[in-house]
Amino acid sequence: MIGGGYVGLVSGACFAEFGVEVAVVETHPGRLESLRQGRIPIYEPGLDTLVAANIAAGRLSFGDDIREAVAGAEAVFIAVGTPPRNGDGHADLTYVFAAAEQVAQALSGYAVIVTKSTVPVGTSRRIAEIVRHARPDLEFDVASNPEFLREGSAIADFMRPDRVVIGTDVTQDGGSERAQEVMRRLYRPLYLIEAPILFTSLESSELIKYAANSFLAMKISFINEMADLCERVGGDVHDVARGIGLDGRIGRKFLHAGPGYGGSCFPKDTLALMRIAQEAGASSRLVEATVQVNDARKASMGARIMSACGGSVRGKTIAVLGLTFKPETDDMRDAPSIPIVHRLVENGAAVRVYDPVGMEAARASMPERVTYCADALDAARDADALILVTEWNAFRAIAPARLRDLMRGRIVIDLRNVYDPAAMAAAGLDYSSIGRPS
Ligand code: NAD
Ligand code: UGA
Repeated sequence: MIGGGYVGLVSGACFAEFGVEVAVVETHPGRLESLRQGRIPIYEPGLDTLVAANIAAGRLSFGDDIREAVAGAEAVFIAVGTPPRNGDGHADLTYVFAAAEQVAQALSGYAVIVTKSTVPVGTSRRIAEIVRHARPDLEFDVASNPEFLREGSAIADFMRPDRVVIGTDVTQDGGSERAQEVMRRLYRPLYLIEAPILFTSLESSELIKYAANSFLAMKISFINEMADLCERVGGDVHDVARGIGLDGRIGRKFLHAGPGYGGSCFPKDTLALMRIAQEAGASSRLVEATVQVNDARKASMGARIMSACGGSVRGKTIAVLGLTFKPETDDMRDAPSIPIVHRLVENGAAVRVYDPVGMEAARASMPERVTYCADALDAARDADALILVTEWNAFRAIAPARLRDLMRGRIVIDLRNVYDPAAMAAAGLDYSSIGRPS
């Protein structure tokens, strides 16, 4: 497994749990050092136990020597980052191609080189070219096996997936059968639980990943627009989401209105799909609209908060609960909290923040002048307004009366619709949420 980040680490540990011997190669010295000491450098529920158990069982190891790691390997997964390339939104494939080159040099016998990173259509074929060029003598196949796990529920998503997608080179006579066989053996435990395992061409597999993320992003942008409409015409977005979601053709999931989607994947993968379509001369207007709606939504949260605070936050103390892009992760990439907190600080507010696990990771993207608090109630103390940005479970249990007693002001802005408007009003709080009557 090349790369020990969210995907490499989780899939490496899960394959090891399936009984496969996994060697994870990680080049970041800090990450590798913590992994070697049994410390997980990211927050992902259950991952520390899973990693420790599989290290103890001798099935999972970490190192930076690629030659050692791939010796005798039947499959080598590339699970390195594919961030947006500076300026143009294309996926930056520098790490993927560098890894392919290193794998080519290190392999001594047949292996399937599998792309687990999210990569544009055509990348697996380019990897095959790189390897062929570097090692004309080497027997190998390429495969595409995109990962659909979500941060925060990554282990369950990997172990009980809705589906597994495996792309192989269907144009190569017989060549893909060997690769398919290796992949089938790796995923054997999932056949036993009857998870659908879909074999496709390399191109379809690569496209499925971008299409899935873009479709989910589109659902979120859609419900966010409906939330705005509810606010204008007097509706409740929860009822609308339930009412449409119960139609099996639409589905209930991913219809939670909020401050706009963030994270390391939806924002970059929607942009990348637009670029892929553009280069292919195809239309991607729905995805473009999805991105525009989301960008506008994230940018509009600051104005929403200012207006709820009476038009200005200058000199006011604002508590912000939740900084990570979603609960149960410490990932701050593209988190909606970032533009919100910056806007508040720029407009003269004193901002007190709290996140259950993301405080350390948040420091790099927060403005300098924020106060990091010990817990949610500490953040609320003497605040003129409180904003809930990320729906950590710990925040759901806070009693409205407790907030009222601790806060100096009465304003509560709930960007995730966690609280009950009636209970908030009964406690005397001036409560507003997303797409619901306050
Ligand atoms: P990440 O940045 O957390 O991890 C990538 C790791 O690879 C880093 O630790 C880096 O040091 C290491 N690395 C880079 N080049 C290397 C090399 N040559 N040898 C060894 N290690 C190397 O990224 P991530 O979040 O795990 O995402 C990886 C890929 O998976 C991306 O394409 C992403 O789009 C995709 N993906 C991510 C998620 C998610 O939830 N984060 C889910 C599905 C798919
Ligand atoms: C997402 C996909 O759900 C995974 O299937 C995919 O593998 C992954 O991207 C990836 O390619 O990396 P992730 O980004 O970890 O997973 O988290 P999600 O649960 O999808 O949430 C993404 C963002 O959308 C968050 O900011 C979340 O708050 C927001 N969201 C999600 C909503 O605003 N409303 C919803 O109904 C659902």
